[in-house]
Amino acid sequence: MIDSFQQRAAALDAADELAPLRSEFHIPQHEGRDQAYFCGNSLGLQPRAARQAVIEELDDWAMLGVDGHFRGRHPWMPYHTFVRDGLAHVAGAMPSEVVAMNSLTTNLHLMIVSFYRPTRERSAILIEQGAFPSDRYAVESQIRFHGFDPATDLIELAPDEPNGTISIAAIAHAIEHHRDRLALVLWPGVQYRSGEVYHLGDIARLAHAAGAIAGFDLAHSIGNVPVNLHGSEADFAVWCSYKYLNAGPGAVAGCFVHQRHAHTTSPRFAGWWGHDQSTRFKMGPDFVPTPGAEGWQLSNPPILALAPLRVSLELFLRADLTRLRKKSVWMTAFYAEAIEAVLGTHIDIVTPNEPARRGCQLSLRVRGGRERGRALFEQLEHHGVLCDWREPDVIRVSPTPLYNRCADVIPLLRVASAFLN
Ligand SMILES: Cc1ncc(COP(=O)(O)O)c(C=O)c1O
Repeated sequence: MIDSFQQRAAALDAADELAPLRSEFHIPQHEGRDQAYFCGNSLGLQPRAARQAVIEELDDWAMLGVDGHFRGRHPWMPYHTFVRDGLAHVAGAMPSEVVAMNSLTTNLHLMIVSFYRPTRERSAILIEQGAFPSDRYAVESQIRFHGFDPATDLIELAPDEPNGTISIAAIAHAIEHHRDRLALVLWPGVQYRSGEVYHLGDIARLAHAAGAIAGFDLAHSIGNVPVNLHGSEADFAVWCSYKYLNAGPGAVAGCFVHQRHAHTTSPRFAGWWGHDQSTRFKMGPDFVPTPGAEGWQLSNPPILALAPLRVSLELFLRADLTRLRKKSVWMTAFYAEAIEAVLGTHIDIVTPNEPARRGCQLSLRVRGGRERGRALFEQLEHHGVLCDWREPDVIRVSPTPLYNRCADVIPLLRVASAFLN
């Protein structure tokens, strides 16, 4: 059966008009051949252009010193604007609604400080049960910081579906149930463990109807599924750039603030780089924010870290997210079909089967318990099939349309089938 999937994979790859994009990336090697790399959900592969982009900045620094701020090939003073259109594209936002800065968790704190304005009557935050730990820590600490108690004000919605996913009906029910005390709904665009996709517009609408703010963690969405942050009316969103955006380990993260908050007078934690650009260097004592997302910047940005993001986003603009998503839908369906057909007696796919409810990630749970799952994961790694593991028992496989091929699933099928049977 694996042979027939191999033939189909070869035909699909040969007909794939996006296949040439793979050559834009360095593919890690295993015993002289390309790894089957499925960890774009964790750390995306290096675009070949990244090295040159960093070297150019090092050279400009060497040759120009401080003048690089104005006379560099990509002057550092307006450097964040070189990633603005790309970020707007992947976020479905207006350029003034996005900014590259800090890390995801830092941005989450900055956003919660501005948009979580608890009162005695309305102080609760709704998140999903099993949220990424950093998000939970951020939310819990913010509730405490504001003088409230997470024991009552942190509401964690349990999965209502058999695979541990959460239906929109359950989210609607929870929001309705807590409607009078909800200050903020903080939701993932794609849940990191299950791979379930949530539709931002639906959740934002429900949150707003209850009088709450709608914020999103798009760590697993950006560059994976098209999102329409502006149209969804989300209040804010944050994401990292080292996963599907392929901008390198610890890359500069992203932040979205909806245009209707561009001139907000809500409090914020301010820094000089968020000050109105026309008067920033007058060095006055009073903070006047730049309108839009850029007004939340704190510091001048790390140019060496932004350089890979710049060239990586250029690839997204070239490839176009709609075309990438189209490939992702059929490629992920092929992977799901192959895994079910060959390994279905041993493995359950936890991620919803409907294309609209998943991105490229398939979360696999091996029957027979954690130890068997972990052993399979290690066996795959040993044979150059790079997935990732999420406690307690999930193997994540994320074929990304930028550089994965259908043929990459074949070593996964062969190794897993030999191990499990
Ligand atoms: C869903 C989610 N939220 C938050 C984080 C934390 O990101 P950072 O370390 O960049 O703050 C991650 C990291 O993988 C994540 O997947």
